Amino acid sequence: MKVLILPDEHSAMQRAADIVARTVRNKPDAVLGLATGGTMLPLYEALAQRHRDEGLSFAATTSFNLDEYIGLAPEHPCSYHSYMREAFFDRVDIDRTRTHLPKGDADDPQAASLEYEALIENAGGIDLQLLGIGQNGHIGFNEPTASLGSRTRIKTLTDSTRRANQRYFNSFEETPRYAITMGVATILASRKCLLLATGEAKADAVARMVEGPLSAACPASALQLHAKATIILDDAAAGQLTLTDYYENVHPQGRDSVFD
Ligand code: F6R
Repeated sequence: MKVLILPDEHSAMQRAADIVARTVRNKPDAVLGLATGGTMLPLYEALAQRHRDEGLSFAATTSFNLDEYIGLAPEHPCSYHSYMREAFFDRVDIDRTRTHLPKGDADDPQAASLEYEALIENAGGIDLQLLGIGQNGHIGFNEPTASLGSRTRIKTLTDSTRRANQRYFNSFEETPRYAITMGVATILASRKCLLLATGEAKADAVARMVEGPLSAACPASALQLHAKATIILDDAAAGQLTLTDYYENVHPQGRDSVFD
């Protein structure tokens, strides 16, 4: 794992934006795996700004989002479809016909999950998968005890995840219980992974992901198996790591190492 520690959220997001921009410049038709959540908003803001100011183009890219709530139509204001339109798709030149999210309102969500896996495969797989992390160590909606061999499927959300996401809904009861999510193995099949975590609330999950045992109890720890996983943290999210001196030594202030 490449652990990059930046002094604050802003520099962490700029660092992440650099990596996304490099991917898209090197391969204009890159397949991007996208994530939602509060952590990603400033990253999408930074990418939209680079599109406006520097002409960074997403016109030839294809995208696949990690997850979507079951029962929410794409037009629902709290759906991840809506989130992506507002945060990113409407602000850059991405071709909307090549953006994909799981169909949360499908009559048969199980069949829709299988179709989603097939779509990713037909697109040639994901070049760069963006990820956030839940306070309980989830990636996508792969909650603790999710199979490390899982593929896109239906997951029941934990109460802690529903409570964390309740802020977008009117009440806990209204917060969806189920989601379609890429599986842990789907995520690990991406050619590169880029996980972002900011803020003290993520520090425990980050420490378990990076330095804890590989375990379904912390699905994000599965990234220890990925040959090209980059973890971008701000100081607060890195607060419970014990090998910080080493990470700083290899990547001073989050910079590339001499061999990168
Ligand atoms: C969202 C997703 C989730 C979030 C995670 C962190 O597509 O897959 O795993 O990345 O719940 O969410 P925030 O950033 O809101 O703390």
